[in-house]
Amino acid sequence: MTRYQDMNINRPHILRHLIRLITLALPAVVIWIGVHDRNLQLMKWNPLYGRLYLGLIALALIALLTVFIDTYLRSHRPSRSDVGVISYLLALLSLAVAVGMFVYLSPYTVTADKAPQLLLVEQQNDSGYPHVALTWYTLKDQQETLIYGTDPDDLRHTITEEHPSKEHAIIFSEITPGQEIFYRRISDGLTASFTYMPLTQSDEGREILRLAIASDAHIGAGSNSEDDTLQILQQITGDRDEYALLFNLGDNVEMGNDDSQYTRQIDLFSPYTTKIPSAVLPGNHDTWFAGVHFWKSYYYPSPLPARSGSRLYHRYDFGPDIHIFTMDLEWGTETYTTDQRVWFEQQLETIDPDDLIIIMSHAFFFASSTKYENKPWYDNQDMIGTFHQLFIDRGVDLVFSGHDHQMEHIHRDGIDYLITGAFGGVKDKQPTFISEGSQYRNFFDSGFADLQIAEDSLTVIFRDTTGDPLYQFSTDR
Ligand SMILES: [Fe+2]
Ligand SMILES: [Fe+2]
Repeated sequence: MTRYQDMNINRPHILRHLIRLITLALPAVVIWIGVHDRNLQLMKWNPLYGRLYLGLIALALIALLTVFIDTYLRSHRPSRSDVGVISYLLALLSLAVAVGMFVYLSPYTVTADKAPQLLLVEQQNDSGYPHVALTWYTLKDQQETLIYGTDPDDLRHTITEEHPSKEHAIIFSEITPGQEIFYRRISDGLTASFTYMPLTQSDEGREILRLAIASDAHIGAGSNSEDDTLQILQQITGDRDEYALLFNLGDNVEMGNDDSQYTRQIDLFSPYTTKIPSAVLPGNHDTWFAGVHFWKSYYYPSPLPARSGSRLYHRYDFGPDIHIFTMDLEWGTETYTTDQRVWFEQQLETIDPDDLIIIMSHAFFFASSTKYENKPWYDNQDMIGTFHQLFIDRGVDLVFSGHDHQMEHIHRDGIDYLITGAFGGVKDKQPTFISEGSQYRNFFDSGFADLQIAEDSLTVIFRDTTGDPLYQFSTDR
């Protein structure tokens, strides 16, 4: 047998092995999707994705089956196989779908550097308030330096990162409440300032700690209003020293697996979030298809300390008797892991129920809304069953959430539940279900919540994009 004849005999074998190999690409993608809990949660809450996933599984199985049948027939009738061409075509189709899916999802492709933002840190400084850090992300490992001080002409504190890194977070370690801090990033000369935990005056002349709370900007959705989002950010940061912090309750982007949406969102927010520190919570849109990796890098970078032991949920104390928990509840209780539950219940046990206890979460508890794909987007019974009695028992005062795209105030059993999902995402439809205890509902305006904490009282004001009040209520502390 000549060498030439040898090659002719082997070539079809090599092709068939190659076909068998590429038939495995789609099952690999199907398994990758299935092992990420958050993808299964997406399918649970949006059955359309579930049906698409079943379609992928069916295609993968049919392609594998035809290759198996082809192999079996060839082993019994080496001369020909009737399913050979079909198996080749199906293998190519499943490869194209697998590659297309992964390119479309692009869950690990960081597209660009991320602009700087001030973030709240889950660690107290000497004043009893949380630290603040300047954070940002670079595609290449870099070792960065920040200088800062209270006098813009004398930035006397210099902090250089210990190691080159992509995730950057430099804590302003020498600051006290009420100080205006001027800072400069050496790598690009970015210069800005913020006031650390300003105490301001209410309309009645009382000293207050004032927090802004907003959720569901959905940058990248197309149906959202970036103008509304930017106007709200302008309201929160326009008059210096009004708001101490922005609590951003998630769904910052529409598709958290698409890093370019994070790049745009952070670019849009950075001119404002370099003037006021934020605490950002993960929303279901931020974290699906492995988007949680991006979220952690950008919204709680690895150099930041976290007393909770997680980058996804935290407890922040403001002096001795104000406590704010930011939870990882994305769709609902699906992300309420055992670790998070143990941490949360232990933390609540250490707090005097008479203190002011505020819970922040992306997912809502009580809410008025409609059904979507036959799923109720109102009164989440799992959330209510898991938390409401615990909140009552432990003296929780206020609960803020988003996820439903509206502003709503619901009063239940002495606890005020507020939904602030009007940060620019498309508004939800008028509700077909009204939650018991619903005091105010707005499915029309974009806006945010203005929480004013005084010595002996609390006031919550829903404001529109111009800052005008839409609704307010007050309660004793
Ligand atoms: Fe949302
Ligand atoms: Fe959401």
